[in-house]
Amino acid sequence: MQIKPDEITSILKSRIEGLDQDGGADLSEVGTILSVADGIARVHGLESCMSLELLEFPNDVTGLAFNLESDNVGAVLFGPWESIDEGDTVKRTGRLLEVPVGDQLLGRIVDPLGNPLDGKGEINATATLPAEGPAPGVVMRQPVEEPMLTGLKAIDAMVPIGRGQRELIIGDRQTGKSAIGIDAIIHNRHDETLRCVYVAIGQRMSTVVGVADTLEEHGALENTVIVAAAANEAAPIKWIAPYAGAAMGEYYRDSGQHAVCIFDDLTKHAHAYRQLSLLLRRPPGREAFPGDVFYLHSRLLERAAKLSDDLGGGSLTALPIIETQAGDISAYIPTNVISITDGQIFLDQDLFLGGTRPAIDVGTSVSRVGGSAQPKPMKKVAGTLRLDLSQYRELQSFAQFGSDLDPETQQTLNRGERLVETLKQNEQDVMETHDQCAIIYAGTSGWLDRIKTERIGDFQTFLLDRLHSDSSDLMDRIAGGEWEDSTENELSEAIGQAIDDFGPDFDSEGNELEEGESERTRGGGEEESDSDSEEESGDDEEQESEEKEGAAA
Ligand SMILES: Nc1ncnc2c1ncn2[C@@H]1O[C@H](COP(=O)(O)OP(=O)(O)OP(=O)(O)O)[C@@H](O)[C@H]1O
Ligand SMILES: [Mg+2]
Repeated sequence: MQIKPDEITSILKSRIEGLDQDGGADLSEVGTILSVADGIARVHGLESCMSLELLEFPNDVTGLAFNLESDNVGAVLFGPWESIDEGDTVKRTGRLLEVPVGDQLLGRIVDPLGNPLDGKGEINATATLPAEGPAPGVVMRQPVEEPMLTGLKAIDAMVPIGRGQRELIIGDRQTGKSAIGIDAIIHNRHDETLRCVYVAIGQRMSTVVGVADTLEEHGALENTVIVAAAANEAAPIKWIAPYAGAAMGEYYRDSGQHAVCIFDDLTKHAHAYRQLSLLLRRPPGREAFPGDVFYLHSRLLERAAKLSDDLGGGSLTALPIIETQAGDISAYIPTNVISITDGQIFLDQDLFLGGTRPAIDVGTSVSRVGGSAQPKPMKKVAGTLRLDLSQYRELQSFAQFGSDLDPETQQTLNRGERLVETLKQNEQDVMETHDQCAIIYAGTSGWLDRIKTERIGDFQTFLLDRLHSDSSDLMDRIAGGEWEDSTENELSEAIGQAIDDFGPDFDSEGNELEEGESERTRGGGEEESDSDSEEESGDDEEQESEEKEGAAA
C-alpha cells in the first residue's frame, strides 16, 4: 500500500488537535524528511518555512530551506548529512542563516559557517550577521572617493580602485589573478581601518594554507579573515562561502570602517550553484546554469558599497575573481560578472608568459569609478600612461612587419617599451604610492628614454634609494598628496641627477653613449657621496638641457 505523507500528516493533525500550546507541537514548525541524497533533503511539513531559513536536522546537521514548493521544502545540508535518514524529524528555527563576524575572526582560517579550520582554538565571536543580508539602497550610498590601493603600479596607476567599488579580476588559469588579491591584502596590512576578507572557493586546502603562510610572512594575516570552502567540500558549503565572507566584511562597513573582500573565485562558485540547482531539479538554462545565476552574483556584489556619511561612511570593496577559458570573456558567467562590476582587470596569458607581470591588458582593463578616488600625484603622473601604452601596443604589432620606421614611431616604441618595463612588478613586492609616482614619472616624462630597457629594473631600485636618502622631504610631500609645478620640477631634477649618477646609455638626443662617455662604470647602488661631489662642477650644462627635455616630453 502506498502511503502519502499528506495523508499521514492530516491524520496526525486531527489526532493531536486540541493539545494546548505548552504540551503540543506546532505542526508548521516540524517536518519529516521524505528523501535525502547528495547533500539535499526534501522535507514534508514546515508549512510556514521561510526562504533560506535555517532548519535543524538530527545529528548536528544544519539545513537551509532553498526550494519552497507546494507540498515540500527542498533543503541543502551542511555537516555530516550521511547520518540522517528518511523519516527523521526536522525543526524550523525561525532564523535566517547567520555567520559570526567581528575582530575575533581576524588572523584565522574559518569555514563559511565560521568554524575554525586552522586548529588555533575556538573563535568566540560575539556578533553575528545574516549571510544573505540585503544590499544597501541608493539613498544609503555615496560616490566612491577614497582609494583602495593595491601597491601594484599597473593597477594603482591605470585601473585605480576606490573603497566601495567592485572591480573584477579576470583571466585564464595561472595568470596571476590570486596574486593581485593577495598583494592588495599585503599592501594594506598596517591599515587597521581596512580589514581584508579572502574567500577561497573550490581551491585545494594546501593552496589556502599557502596563502595564509604568505600573509603571515608579511605580517598581513592579523588584518585578514580567510574563509575557505575547499574543493572537497559539498556544493552548499561552496555556495554559501562568498555570502558569509561578505557578511564578515559588512560588519566593518556598517560600523564606519572599511573592508575589502576577495572572492577567489566566482567561476567555481557558479559551478557549485549549478550543481545544487540541478540536484534540486531546477530547470537548467544556458550552459546548464539555472536561470537566476545572474542574480546569484549580482546580489552578492551589490553588497559592496560606500555608505553615506549619515550611516558612518564605511565601505565594502569587492574584488571578485573569474577564470576564463582561452581568454574568452564572452562566456556566460564572465559576461554576467563584467556587467555587474564597476570595471575589470583583464589578465592576458600571452603577456604573462612573455614576462610582463602583472599581465594586465591595458586595452580591455578599465575602472569606471576608481579614478575619482585616485591620489592627486598619481592622477597627474599617470594621466597619459594608458594612452602611451595603447599607442605602443598598436604600433608594436604593426612594426613587426616594417623595418624602416620613422623617428617618431621609433620614439613611441622606445617609450612604450620602457613604460611596460616600468610597470613590471614581482608578486608580494608592493610599493607605496609616492614611490610608484616617482617611478612612473621617470617613465612618462621621458627620463627613462636615456636608459636601456634591460637596466630599468636596476635603475628603479637605485632611484628609490636615492630619493629616500637625498629627497626624503620631497617624497614625504608627494606621499601627503602634494603635486604642484614646483613638486614636479624638484622631482624631475632629482631623477635627472640620479640618471647621471647611474650612468645613462643614451644622451639627450637619443644617441648611444660609449662606455667611457657615461659614468656608468660606477653602476647601480654604490656610494652616492663621491659621485655627487665629482659631478657637481662639470655636468651642470648637460643637465640643464636634459631637464628641459624631460619637462618637454
Ligand atoms: N607579478 C608576478 N611576478 C612573478 N610571478 C608571479 C606574479 N604573479 C603571479 N606569479 C606567479 O604565477 C603563478 C600563478 O599565479 P596565481 O596563482 O596568482 O594565478 P591564478 O590566475 O590565481 O592561478 P589559478 O588559475 O591556478 O588560480 C604563481 O606561481 C605565482 O607565483
Ligand atoms: Mg588563483
